Amino acid sequence: RLPAPGTTVPFTPTAPLPAPADTGRVAFPDGFLWGTATAAFQIEGASSEGGRQDSIWDAFCRIPGAVRNGDDGTVACDHYHRYREDVALMKRLNLDTYRFSTSWARIMPDGKTVNAEGLDFYSRLVDELLAADVLPWLTLYHWDLPQALEELGGWPSRDTAYRFADYAVAVHEALGDRVRVWTTLNEPWCSAFLGYTSGAHAPGKKSPELGLAAAHHLMLGHGLAVEALRERDPEASLGITLNFTVSDPVDPSDPADVDAARRDDGMFNRIFLDPILRGAYPQDLLDDVAHLGFADVVRAGDLETISTPIDVLGVNYYNGGAVSARPQQAQGTPEGTAGPDGARETPTDGPVWETGSPNPVPDGIHHHSRGLPTTDMGWEVQPEGLTRLLVRLQQDYTGPRGTALFVTENGAAYPDVVQPDGSVDDQDRLAFIDAHLRALKAAIDAGADVRGYFAWSLMDNFEWALGYSKRFGLVRVDYETQERTVKASGRWYAQVARDNALPA
Ligand code: NOJ
Repeated sequence: RLPAPGTTVPFTPTAPLPAPADTGRVAFPDGFLWGTATAAFQIEGASSEGGRQDSIWDAFCRIPGAVRNGDDGTVACDHYHRYREDVALMKRLNLDTYRFSTSWARIMPDGKTVNAEGLDFYSRLVDELLAADVLPWLTLYHWDLPQALEELGGWPSRDTAYRFADYAVAVHEALGDRVRVWTTLNEPWCSAFLGYTSGAHAPGKKSPELGLAAAHHLMLGHGLAVEALRERDPEASLGITLNFTVSDPVDPSDPADVDAARRDDGMFNRIFLDPILRGAYPQDLLDDVAHLGFADVVRAGDLETISTPIDVLGVNYYNGGAVSARPQQAQGTPEGTAGPDGARETPTDGPVWETGSPNPVPDGIHHHSRGLPTTDMGWEVQPEGLTRLLVRLQQDYTGPRGTALFVTENGAAYPDVVQPDGSVDDQDRLAFIDAHLRALKAAIDAGADVRGYFAWSLMDNFEWALGYSKRFGLVRVDYETQERTVKASGRWYAQVARDNALPA
């Protein structure tokens, strides 16, 4: 397995955290992995080639107003045809590893029958990565459920969890001889609550009950898949990627704000962390959602399956939030500039978004702007939150179980300017990643067992409900010509990966 298991680091919870260095050379531990991440629907295109059929995102993109500018995944970055060139790009960036996802709709277009041509694409991609000495880090589900399964009820239906485990086994059958790191889901919070509660993401449903049922069944699918893969391949590294926030009360001396922050943390972080890493839903969360019939969704034995041991926890971190029991007073910084009520991974505008909160129990939880600088997503830049998050995860969740931490996504959208010579001097993105890597190193220094970092993203791509309007890439994509251009941030990151250190 990739991480040597069983590294448990003792903590003194009250010890002050080391402050991240602002500047100066920072070296990372030997063997630290440097990567970039992408996802199938966001880059592949070729949406009806090779036997692929619709995923929920293909269907969602056809709903008028659902995705900005009517963008869709038909062509995207045309990675399906250009994967060789893209792997060569990874090599130029000195990457140790590449986190990508397989498309369920390409591999099982009708949700149950294996499509050999779909598997073959990933087989060729994996061979290309291995030939370039780039470790393939595979995610089985990055939001693109086959539409055929949505029509049978989607994630709110328990059966989807079993279908997911079948799919995991089918992918492992084809790639298990070459892929050594398998993660099940990417950000199930988004799949459940943006997909089935706020409706901002596919399939665009708007129900607190459906979101909660989806969350449970996503985790059940994760657990079933880990059990099946573990049995087939005891030496593989298995895990999941979650997205996190850091919920800070606006006024730490106000019990109502502290309680709002607790509930926000519960619905965003602990709803997934506790079942997966501790085998139980947090009682305060169960109390908060009791009126939504959640207890009926959870069956005997589910939590044992969900908490089957994992080797790696993937951490996606973009920002934290200041949470209050009261709306923010108008001071020129209206509530919601950092994303209304938990919308940290969502567009803050657009007709679909306006319809609802992703939180099944949103009353009395308000997100305030702290006046920090924001990215093009409107998300506040808060690198020190990453230090606190990683240390908390190590102390309360992964450390006691010997699960290694990897930052599987971090990065920023900024409105890039292309110079007349075609170059992009994105000092803002470079500074964002630099600050977060310093914060990550401070967490390692405090005892967090963090073994690698993946920048989101290798290249500009389809940013879900915001279409191609937001650019996160270390590499620019010209969508007219499909030309790739390494940005200043990409050149800098290549140097960091080569040196295993941030430059002075
Ligand atoms: C998290 C998601 O996993 C990814 O698909 C998305 O593009 C980034 N966040 C940026 O929003």
